[in-house]
Amino acid sequence: MPHSALLNVMIKAAFRAGKSLKRDLGELENLQVSLKGPRNFVTAADRRAEEILRTELNKARPDYGFLGEEGGAHLGADKTHRWIVDPLDGTTNFLHGIPHFAVSIALERNGAIVAGLTYNPANDELYVAERGKGAFLNERRLRVAGRRNLAEAVVACGLPHFGRGDLDRARAEIFAAQKHFAGLRRFGAATLDLAYIAAGRFDAYWERDLSPWDLAAGTLIVREAGGFVSDLDGGDAILTKGHVAAGNETMHRELLRLLKAAGSEAAKVRESS
Ligand code: IPD
Ligand code: CA
Ligand code: CA
Repeated sequence: MPHSALLNVMIKAAFRAGKSLKRDLGELENLQVSLKGPRNFVTAADRRAEEILRTELNKARPDYGFLGEEGGAHLGADKTHRWIVDPLDGTTNFLHGIPHFAVSIALERNGAIVAGLTYNPANDELYVAERGKGAFLNERRLRVAGRRNLAEAVVACGLPHFGRGDLDRARAEIFAAQKHFAGLRRFGAATLDLAYIAAGRFDAYWERDLSPWDLAAGTLIVREAGGFVSDLDGGDAILTKGHVAAGNETMHRELLRLLKAAGSEAAKVRESS
C-alpha cells in the first residue's frame, strides 16, 4: 500500500531506530549475566534510538518542534507542528529480552494529532494512521473488535508501581475487571496496548499516569480503526491528564462505568477505615 510522504518519513525514521534497538536487544543477551550492565545499556539504547529519530525527522522536516521522552522538548521555527516520540516503549520488557516493545511517533498539528505510528521491531508489526485515512497494521486495514458482551472480552491495563499512584483504587478497578471480563492482561507497552485495541486483539484498555509520548500515536490509531478513546472522565484531555480508556463504543462506555463504580467503592472503603 503506498503511504503519504509524511508517513514515509515517519516509517523510515522508525525502521532506523528499530534496527538499532534490535541490534541492542541482541547485545543485551550477552549482558544479562552482569549485575550493573543491562540497565545502563538499556538507557544508552533508548537514547540512541531517540537520537536516530530526531536526526531523521529533523532532516525531513527541519522546522518542526520535537518532544521526546529522553531529550525533552525542542521548539521549532514552525510552531504549528510538533513530533511526539517514545523511542522505546516497554523498556522493562526490552531489558528482560521480552519481544514486546515499540518505537512510537506522532505528529501534532495545531494541538491535534494528525499522524501516528507504532512499530515493534521484534516482530516487524507496523501500525500507522493518518487523520481521516484509516489505520493499518502493515498492509492490512484495521477495525476494532465488534464484541459487545463483557463476558467474552479481553481487557488490558497498566499497573501502578508500588509507592506511586492510588493502589487501593487500582485494586478495586482490577477486581471489577476480573469480575466482568473474560480475561485481564498487562503486557507492559502502552503504545502497543492501544495498537492492539485498533487491531481487535484487545476489546478494552485503561491506564493511568501515562505521558504524551505513550498516548499520542495510539489514540489516533484507535480512532482511525473506528474505536473510542477518552480520558477516564470520558473527555478528550487524554494527553494532558495522562489517563486513558479505549475500546469499541460499548466496551469503552462499559469500562468507564465499571472504573467509576470501582473508584467510588475504593473511596467508601477508605473513608470507613
Ligand atoms: C511505560 C510502558 C508501560 C506503562 C508505563 C510506561 P516506558 O513506558 O508504556 O506499559 O505501564 O507507565 O511508562 O517507560 O517503557 O517507555
Ligand atoms: Ca513509554
Ligand atoms: Ca520510553
